Amino acid sequence: MKIAIVGGGNMGQAMVTAFLNKKIVRPADLLVVDRNEERQRFFTAKKIRTCVGTRHVLSLRGYDVIFLAVKPQDMADLLAAIRDWIGPKALVISIAAGVTIERMTGLLGRHKIVRCMPNTPAQIQQGVTGWTANQSVTVADKKRVERLLSALGAAIYFPDEAKLDAVTAVSGCGPAYVFYFMEAMTAGAKEVGFSEQQARALVLGTFMGATQLVATTGETPSTLRAKVASKKGSTAAATEYLDSNKVTSLIVEAMQKALQRAQELNI
Ligand SMILES: NC(=O)c1ccc[n+]([C@@H]2O[C@H](COP(=O)([O-])OP(=O)(O)OC[C@H]3O[C@@H](n4cnc5c(N)ncnc54)[C@H](OP(=O)(O)O)[C@@H]3O)[C@@H](O)[C@H]2O)c1
Repeated sequence: MKIAIVGGGNMGQAMVTAFLNKKIVRPADLLVVDRNEERQRFFTAKKIRTCVGTRHVLSLRGYDVIFLAVKPQDMADLLAAIRDWIGPKALVISIAAGVTIERMTGLLGRHKIVRCMPNTPAQIQQGVTGWTANQSVTVADKKRVERLLSALGAAIYFPDEAKLDAVTAVSGCGPAYVFYFMEAMTAGAKEVGFSEQQARALVLGTFMGATQLVATTGETPSTLRAKVASKKGSTAAATEYLDSNKVTSLIVEAMQKALQRAQELNI
């Protein structure tokens, strides 16, 4: 399988790393296209074939899978430049937030198109990616997509494209919610007397241990929380305070704001 990745920024680099680590593609069958010469030098130094700017249009011929990993605002120009150079059987997979399949079909013509929403832990192959596909994508293609996206972590297919905005609000933006909570806990740790370094170790260790506990026991977070919080104990003092300030409702509302914005940004 020959894979081209157009846009070798944060997410493009994450895909290159994952595909090579998991041996999904041989280095010789991988091409990174980026107009940014610094990015080109970065990949060339790692012995990955690259090309810059308009020269890429010819190079895309013969690639089975073409990932589009540019910013949403760059997508229209990019698709106009490459539309005549994509083979009829190629699978086009876009990771651009908010660029709908309808819009891509309008710009690209009738092609096999997959739209997906990964998240940043894809950089360490621990991401979650929601994806959907148009009617031209066959069952065999879907298996291939599943294999490719699973290299980035978990991959979840949704037949209904509208679900991708909700995926954005949950797991796309999700790492930022977790970081937000970690920042708050770090501030709390410093407030009770720990240094920055000590706070980082305590907070990070707690997040890693607690999430692994959910994953390995299969128990719900609320069951595990009930096990920690004995009546009138310290944990209960903290969680009751969070409840009385409706923190859960605030988080739910915050995610609805993210969904609303994702829907507004759709192009
Ligand atoms: N970061 C996330 O958390 C995340 C999560 C899910 C999805 N996404 C989506 O992933 C996409 C990429 O995000 P990113 O953070 O990886 O962006 P990025 O770091 O800016 O990388 C995009 C790269 O593509 C290059 N580029 C733009 N137009 C091009 C063209 N026509 N031909 C060749 N190269 C071109 C850019 O060059 P210049 O520097 O010259 O512009 C840049 O090097 C976005 O659409 C975003 O919505 C991101």
